[in-house]
Amino acid sequence: MGKKVTIRDIARLAGVSVTTVSQILNGKGARFSKETQKRVLKLRDQYGYVPDFNARSLILRKSSSMIGVLVPDISSPFFGTFVKGVQQVAQHEKMIPLIFSANRDPELEQSYLSQMISRSIDGLIIASVTMTTATIDRLIGSRDIPYILFDKNYAQRGTRVLTDDYRGGSLAAQYLVDLGHQRLVVLRPQQQSENFTQRMKGFYDTLEKNGIHLDQERDVVIEPLSRPGGYAATDAVLKSDATAVFAGNDDMAIGLLRGLAEHGVKVPQQLSVIGYDDIYMDEYVSPRLTTVRQPILDLGTGAAKLLLSKIHDEHAAEQVRRFPVELVVRDSTAAPRAEKMIKFD
Ligand code: RIB
Repeated sequence: MGKKVTIRDIARLAGVSVTTVSQILNGKGARFSKETQKRVLKLRDQYGYVPDFNARSLILRKSSSMIGVLVPDISSPFFGTFVKGVQQVAQHEKMIPLIFSANRDPELEQSYLSQMISRSIDGLIIASVTMTTATIDRLIGSRDIPYILFDKNYAQRGTRVLTDDYRGGSLAAQYLVDLGHQRLVVLRPQQQSENFTQRMKGFYDTLEKNGIHLDQERDVVIEPLSRPGGYAATDAVLKSDATAVFAGNDDMAIGLLRGLAEHGVKVPQQLSVIGYDDIYMDEYVSPRLTTVRQPILDLGTGAAKLLLSKIHDEHAAEQVRRFPVELVVRDSTAAPRAEKMIKFD
């Protein structure tokens, strides 16, 4: 048989009804003879029959049991772990997550979102750098698809999962100040999502409270929020006279660690580096990275649970679920020492 085998083909070949085949293949065939069951299963295997999920949904008038997850960059361990959390819940609830990674490209984000919406998805988890709730609502239109905003849309309305980025930034700053650092450099991306702005604000405000002012020109290095971005920041960091660096996320911090190692800079003896997120790689770089922890897996499970509650109850009130952040001290930070970093001009 060249064309795709349908349930009707299997029924015809087995000499039974479509309902009989459907029941046997769904494990509800006990009332049919062993011989009929065997014949149907054998034909399924022989022709490699796979049920068509969309057709099945139409027949059963059931929703597709799919949730769409849109993340900016799946190659970031942060979003890899987040998606793992979503999958854990989805698997438990027998739902299928469709994962889309938009490479931080606004056009691709919108296109993926439209694709998901047109594929009768049951709900959406959206971690978008660029999309506003107004855009999302416009794309969803009259379809009434529940969605959860994750991470980026801090200041907007709608059901959301988030962490306290302001406090996270503040924890990083206070820790470095308590170690005795006075000269600091910050690594951040050009385009800052709302949660990132809060993270940086927490950092700057806390430094100010301690009498330390960061000069936006001199002390802020702008590079992409990624390992290559952190690596690219190396020269600017080496030119500064900082004793500590706050990287906007762990990916950036890890890229910087490599750049510093290549220049023979000892971390933390000559320069302290603190990241943000607590991705699993922090334990595997040298030195192990000090960071501010976001409970990433919990954020994924939390987002999925919240979405499921909205799918199951369309009248559920909007909810904001906040997760705590905490400082995780490892080996990349220490008090500033007499052994200064050689300044490169
Ligand atoms: O790339 C991951 C970063 O982007 C995290 O810090 C997360 O909070 C998101 O904003």
